[in-house]
Amino acid sequence: MKPRKAVLFDCDPGVDDAVALLLAFAATDEIDLIGITTVAGNVSAGLTARNACLIRDHAGRRDVPVYAGAERPLRREPVEAGHFHGETGLGDLPISEPKQGVTPGHAVDFIESTLRSAIDAGQKVCIVITGPMTNVASALRRDPRLLEGIECFAIMGGARSEGGNITASAEYNIYADPDAAQYVFNAGPVVYAFGLDATHQVRATPARTARIRDLGSAEARAAAQLLEFSNALPANGPREQGAPLHDPCPIAWLLAPQLFKFKPCHIDVELDSSLTLGHTAVEFRATGSRLQNVQWAVEADAEGVFALLERYLASGRSGKA
Ligand code: BDR
Ligand code: CA
Repeated sequence: MKPRKAVLFDCDPGVDDAVALLLAFAATDEIDLIGITTVAGNVSAGLTARNACLIRDHAGRRDVPVYAGAERPLRREPVEAGHFHGETGLGDLPISEPKQGVTPGHAVDFIESTLRSAIDAGQKVCIVITGPMTNVASALRRDPRLLEGIECFAIMGGARSEGGNITASAEYNIYADPDAAQYVFNAGPVVYAFGLDATHQVRATPARTARIRDLGSAEARAAAQLLEFSNALPANGPREQGAPLHDPCPIAWLLAPQLFKFKPCHIDVELDSSLTLGHTAVEFRATGSRLQNVQWAVEADAEGVFALLERYLASGRSGKA
């Protein structure tokens, strides 16, 4: 059996973050989920932290701590995306008080102490980010030596050939904190970036969603309800086409790397233009001294991603308990 991958998951749940969390929580044999850190993004910081705790309840994973983090971007006004995720951030999933709340302490401190412990133990952690990158950039800016503890970043964010989804040229996670994204893309460790070019290929069609609902586990029912909410939103295009499944992509890649094809590139984020703020300039040509440290996902095996989701959600942790 392969050793479990040490993963720290930074997110802003969010309907698709929630599905990604359910997948990560279910992959107990492959992923050593050290902790979940949350950030203001799709909805406010208070709601993203609460939502991560609620999804943890659905998955029966009380062993994984949730730390609440940044309440606003590094140096800009917050931009939420409630129109894609509903007022609560979790679509029409019933909301109650989580059985277990957040762990005291700030997400940025937790990221810092996790990386420091990894370095001391001669280990490395993979950092998954599916929201604005404020928490991770804050920790690394505080102490760049923490980079030594990072094996890779697996990030949902950016757009090249697909154009943007929050403005004509920017993808939401980058637009919401472009300064943090520019820092992380250029920090040094290899970045596996799942932008809209790849995630728009992975569509939660009604047939795929129905297959997940039919699995019957608590996790699968919750995932199906979240996916159906997204599918019904006119902003996500015709229902038959299915809403794009963004945030589960980096987790699916950790579990089955063969589901994605990449091209190496350098990414800079537009920080100055009000028209194209948050645009990711994805440069495939190796020029000058620029790092080619980003692997840009260009192809996704959508059927494979859904088969993987089905496999993990069918035997979710709640089914094993
Ligand atoms: C990204 O934006 C958010 O609204 C989603 O959760 C996803 O992380 C897609 O652009
Ligand atoms: Ca997200």
